Amino acid sequence: MRSEGIMVLLTTTVIMMYFCWMMSPKELMLMNLQSHKLIHQKQLFVLAGQSNMLGLGGVNKTAIFNGAKIKVWNGVVPPESRQNPAVFRLNEHWEWELAHEPLHYGINCKITCGVGMGMAFANKLLQMDPNFGVIGLVPSAAGGTSVRNWSGDYADTPYRVLLERTRSAVKQGGALRAIIWYQGEADTIHPYNAKHYKTGLEKFIHRLRNDLHFPSLPFFQIILPRIRKPFRGTLVDKVKRAQRDINLPNLIKIDTDGLPLSSDGVHLTTEGYIRLGFTLANAFLETNSKLLQNKNVVSMYNTSDFNVA
Ligand SMILES: *[C@@H]1O[C@H](CO)[C@@H](O)[C@H](O)[C@H]1NC(C)=O
Ligand SMILES: *[C@@H]1O[C@H](CO)[C@@H](O)[C@H](O)[C@H]1NC(C)=O
Repeated sequence: MRSEGIMVLLTTTVIMMYFCWMMSPKELMLMNLQSHKLIHQKQLFVLAGQSNMLGLGGVNKTAIFNGAKIKVWNGVVPPESRQNPAVFRLNEHWEWELAHEPLHYGINCKITCGVGMGMAFANKLLQMDPNFGVIGLVPSAAGGTSVRNWSGDYADTPYRVLLERTRSAVKQGGALRAIIWYQGEADTIHPYNAKHYKTGLEKFIHRLRNDLHFPSLPFFQIILPRIRKPFRGTLVDKVKRAQRDINLPNLIKIDTDGLPLSSDGVHLTTEGYIRLGFTLANAFLETNSKLLQNKNVVSMYNTSDFNVA
């Protein structure tokens, strides 16, 4: 029959056109661009909190600043925290550059920050999953801040900076994967803050997810280690309990008991930051498959759960 012949001819033509389109120079070019595109589509991790997120590893060299003796970074970068061609940071000018320690340099920190957990985390993640893509770190911590600086009803500076830096990173081309939060030391000093820590942190998380239009944004919360004297905060157990009691979807907790502290009783040593970074990389990859399926994840990891060697 004639109409059947026309149908066969039409179908063949459509199939041939499809193959021609597939192999066109434009399509081949796009395929070659995939790897280049990774640079513009970063996997974003926001780092926020107070000084332990700024990172004080190796800040043990004495210097004179404005007539006063202070401690500055000794410049030692451990191999675990070395530069990596696939790890970038949003710098103090809100531009991407190859990431390097101190990660927070220029962001709420000029002279007293050193090695933190961020580079060790990113390096470990890429070592465990070499196909993960290009990582964009968005350092946004501010030293000495209490949870009220991030959740207060007034528009507080650290929160605004965190929000705008994150928005800018996403706009410049990236997929927001998680926020990593290490904070609470300042809230162990005043009873009011310790008492309201849980509601303050819940409010912060809700507000951030809301403002970013990302209600399931994975939130990795580091639970304070056993901080001690000479640090002046005494309500450590109270804040730790509040941190453990928080229960929200996609909130992943990292217990840090046992990580080495420096002589100030509150900041981790370089080794401590590296172990924490490695634990975070493990925890992220373990929870990631569930997070991608939009399943809610509530888990607790301990820095001793993973072999860090
Ligand atoms: C200073 O920090 C380095 C790590 O960067 C460490 O190896 C060294 O022991 C520290 N020195 C003191 C006196 O704490
Ligand atoms: C945090 O809040 C306190 C009390 O309102 C304020 O004095 C301090 O400047 C704030 N810190 C920052 C970094 O904005």
